[in-house]
Amino acid sequence: MAISRARPGKMTGIVSGRRDHVPVEPADSPSIAGADPPELERRPRPQTRQPIEIEPAQPADAAELTSTQIRAFHDDARRFNPAWSETNPGGPPGYDSQAWQVRMMKRGDYFTIRLGGLIVGGLIAFRIGPTTRNLGRIWVDPEYQSLGVGRTAIEWLHSRLPALTWTLETPAWAVRNHHLYESLGYRKVGARPCPDGFTEFLYERT
Ligand SMILES: CC(C)(COP(=O)(O)OP(=O)(O)OC[C@H]1O[C@@H](n2cnc3c(N)ncnc32)[C@H](O)[C@@H]1OP(=O)(O)O)[C@@H](O)C(=O)NCCC(=O)NCCS
Repeated sequence: MAISRARPGKMTGIVSGRRDHVPVEPADSPSIAGADPPELERRPRPQTRQPIEIEPAQPADAAELTSTQIRAFHDDARRFNPAWSETNPGGPPGYDSQAWQVRMMKRGDYFTIRLGGLIVGGLIAFRIGPTTRNLGRIWVDPEYQSLGVGRTAIEWLHSRLPALTWTLETPAWAVRNHHLYESLGYRKVGARPCPDGFTEFLYERT
């Protein structure tokens, strides 16, 4: 399975109101070789310049938030996790559970990421101290990755939820994430073994 990811033009500006709009030029239609596994069935793509919209997640969004997570985490693990297999497709706790999404909406700050009205990802932050927040999760549907959506969403989160320190954890094998987080000001401060058998890197941004 190969998905070509053309880079679009530069994105500009974050605007106003409950939703935040950032114009984005969509990439050319991706070419997908071979048969798609069920979680990677094609979804509609924005055909014109579309805004990124980030807003608080609602229980009615749980199904789309779950399906986009399954697609994003399975795709990432298949490409980067050396321990990936059909029976071990990857994914963090609750990524495939609608009930988990609804629970996290109550427990943390949970946002949908929409492109042209379509949910293409989400992000979840948790307050873990008086001045510290944890970027608990972010994902973008593989069909919409490398458009700058993830970077824009994290920058937006930093400005929306003030914190002296941001923390996050990510697998040691997730090299693409390391690049993204480090370019957003996070630095690696530690590593620890995970129950699943891989090592997790700990990042902090102050
Ligand atoms: C991490 C994730 C949210 C990023 O979303 P995105 O919209 O693709 O992110 P962006 O387009 O803003 O930026 C991606 C960056 O990674 C870079 N990148 C892409 N593929 C890469 C690779 N194979 N190796 C290194 N860097 C890579 C891009 O070049 C870009 O960096 P740049 O802006 O300096 O060029 C998305 O990849 C994802 O959902 N991954 C699966 C789920 C996951 O791992 N989530 C994080 C842990 S909870």
